[in-house]
Amino acid sequence: MRFCVALCLAAAWPVAAQHEKEGEKPKHPFIGDAKAIEAGRTLFGGGCAACHGAEGQGGRGPNLRERVMWHPLEDDTLFSAIQKGIPGGGMPAANLPEDQAWQVVAFVRSLTSPAYENPVAGDVKIGQELFWGKAGCSGCHQIQGRGGKLGPDLTNIGATRAAPQLREAIVDPDADGAPNYRGATVVLKSGKTLRGVARNRTNYSLQLQDADGNLHLLSMAEVSELTLTKGSPMPKDFAQRLGKPEIDNLVAYLSRQSLRPPEPKKKKEESK
Ligand code: HEC
Ligand code: HEC
Repeated sequence: MRFCVALCLAAAWPVAAQHEKEGEKPKHPFIGDAKAIEAGRTLFGGGCAACHGAEGQGGRGPNLRERVMWHPLEDDTLFSAIQKGIPGGGMPAANLPEDQAWQVVAFVRSLTSPAYENPVAGDVKIGQELFWGKAGCSGCHQIQGRGGKLGPDLTNIGATRAAPQLREAIVDPDADGAPNYRGATVVLKSGKTLRGVARNRTNYSLQLQDADGNLHLLSMAEVSELTLTKGSPMPKDFAQRLGKPEIDNLVAYLSRQSLRPPEPKKKKEESK
């Protein structure tokens, strides 16, 4: 199944990959190409994962995903770091044939560029059904104006997160710390109890958003007890409740949520 998806996309992708935003340097045709990324993943597993982790999460070498949208390395810089190593930095030169080195660049790039720009392993349609059905995600998240309001709106999540971040958000919600979304239970001096997520807390006030999306602006003077949960209010057992293919499918669905094209299915060349 995964193989088929990769192949189908591989057929459509090179066209999209060559389409550039004005003023940008042309990209190497392997960037965003499903087959090259898969080949790069294999090479990465053999030559880089021992130091950088299988998904670039880091180990002896640094995490290669942290720089995600903030300071992405240029493709050329990446290429030469791979080929020549980092002298004095403990990273050996790979000296791969040029094509293979670009495959590795394509893979590393796929870890950090917006999920929307990369081919996906899972099935978007099944992911959509899971999201709005069995997995219960829509109870807390909105997409295009539908769904719950406790968690962040995911309408544009494919354009603002890389695929590994989407996966991590589902299987390990505490990983990002989520300082703006801590679960909170508030007991008011009036005796009333409110539950939801704490937004914008200061020493004097607290905005509590409840599961219906209502925002309660509370002065701390009204509050007799405030209990904040550690970490994310998102359920932490999805990794147990859902199988790996189901998580792949959810990631695939989320990765296609972007405001850029009018509808998620449109091809990339229309996404300017
Ligand atoms: C023996 C361990 C080791 C291996 C194998 C290795 N690296 Fe590294 N890598 C490192 C270390 C250590 C650094 C940090 C060097 C420094 O910053 O001084 C690094 C740095 C990097 C950087 C720069 C990160 C940044 O944020 O500036 C990239 C990109 C990178 N490695 C990619 C790769 C790729 C791709 C491969 C496989 C072809 C690979 N590395 C193989 C240890 C390794
Ligand atoms: C009980 C409510 C709840 C449920 C159910 C829930 N989430 Fe979340 N989710 C949240 C909250 C709150 C956050 C923000 C805190 C955080 O990042 O963990 C969040 C964060 C996220 C993020 C990161 C958003 C970002 O901006 O980086 C993603 C992606 C996500 N959820 C996807 C899902 C998916 C997929 C499901 C179903 C498998 C799901 N959520 C189920 C409440 C929920």
